Amino acid sequence: MQNEKVLIIGGGVIGLGIGWQLAKAGADVTIYDRGQAGRGASWAAAGMLGPIAEAHIDELDLLKLSNQSLERYPEWVDELEAETEMPIGYRAEGTLIIGIEPDDAIQLRHAYDLQQNLGLNVEWLSGEEAREIEGALSPYVTAAVRCETDHQVDNRLMAQALQHAYQRRGGVLHQNSTVEKIVIENGSATGVQTEDGFQGADVCILAAGCWSGQISGLPETLIPPVRPVKGQMLALRMRGGTILKNVIRTVKARYPMPVYLVPRSDGRLIVGATTEELGFDTDLTVGGVYELLHGACEAVPGIYELPLIETWTGLRPGSSDNAPILGKTPVNNLIYATGHYRNGILLTPITAYEISKLILTGETSETIAPFNLDRFSKASDLHTADA
Ligand code: FAD
Ligand code: GLY
Repeated sequence: MQNEKVLIIGGGVIGLGIGWQLAKAGADVTIYDRGQAGRGASWAAAGMLGPIAEAHIDELDLLKLSNQSLERYPEWVDELEAETEMPIGYRAEGTLIIGIEPDDAIQLRHAYDLQQNLGLNVEWLSGEEAREIEGALSPYVTAAVRCETDHQVDNRLMAQALQHAYQRRGGVLHQNSTVEKIVIENGSATGVQTEDGFQGADVCILAAGCWSGQISGLPETLIPPVRPVKGQMLALRMRGGTILKNVIRTVKARYPMPVYLVPRSDGRLIVGATTEELGFDTDLTVGGVYELLHGACEAVPGIYELPLIETWTGLRPGSSDNAPILGKTPVNNLIYATGHYRNGILLTPITAYEISKLILTGETSETIAPFNLDRFSKASDLHTADA
């Protein structure tokens, strides 16, 4: 497929990551982004690489994929930083999930038992042991789970580096250029329609994040079931550059809502996030900021005095089952790489490697086979059969 023209809709970390891999392999790649590349969910994220902290018992395929992507991270970072000379803030100190009230500790114990049953690398700590690792934690922290292998990256730096690496390899990027329609003729995608007219391509990859279901031209049954899930976020400035080393995540049985705190090497402390099903609304609200600050101060009281330097919201691309949609579709030459929901930064390397391999070889690997769009039609077939 090396000489064929590949067109990618969406210049977030997913589109740019795939584009970089393909351009490196010598493919002719063009990305269209309706705004500025890397400024969608990829910019809004916290950059946690947390397969363990985000593990759910009913998402074992996703856990496997997430772990595979995490394993690829060190090599991915080395390669991207070497190629661009742009550091991307990868940090491997790990994550502490903490419980404050006695009820939180019960919920944490439940999560820990599950993580242990799944063979994940977790360690149970008393509150005192947790404070030995992070002295700024509240004296009320009763228990913690240490996930040494849940790391972090600065997602904004990563998106910028990916754009640079992609263009350096000859990839073409059209920003402020909206794809209005995917053009399908005789069962094959032949290109897209932008405001500048028809752009032909041999392969089209849909990687438009939470907007992936909004582009016209697709048959009803093939519109990817992706919805926006709002997250409100804020950043504080750590005096002296550091107050925490590990990522901190709270478990809350009651009130306030669970939060995470992500210390960046540039002295920012990222606090997130709300999870709101409000369509494409991106308002930052008093309630959202209040809840975040309440949860964060409860976990690390010393942040009360820190300057609040930035607030923002972003839209996670959540699929119907919250797992990504990856691979071929019933339309020839139309590939999906979307729906990465809460873990798109974590899943960028595996998505980029596997989708580019699919384009170059035509073969779907076992790694991404469980994430094909057809799982949704299989699920509805099952319901029909049950009825
Ligand atoms: P996006 O980054 O949204 O990119 C999609 C791009 O498509 C956009 O640039 C958009 O302009 C473009 N586009 C849309 N429609 C069109 C069109 N018609 N034509 C052309 N271009 C179009 N993940 C983690 O792994 N760890 C985290 O800690 C984490 N925290 C998060 C916190 C928040 C608050 C949010 C919102 C997300 C978080 N995520 C996290 C999830 C992660 O950010 C996303 O899963 C990931 O960024 C998705 O990347 P993407 O490239 O698919 O989407
Ligand atoms: N993964 C963190 C978030 O989506 O808020």
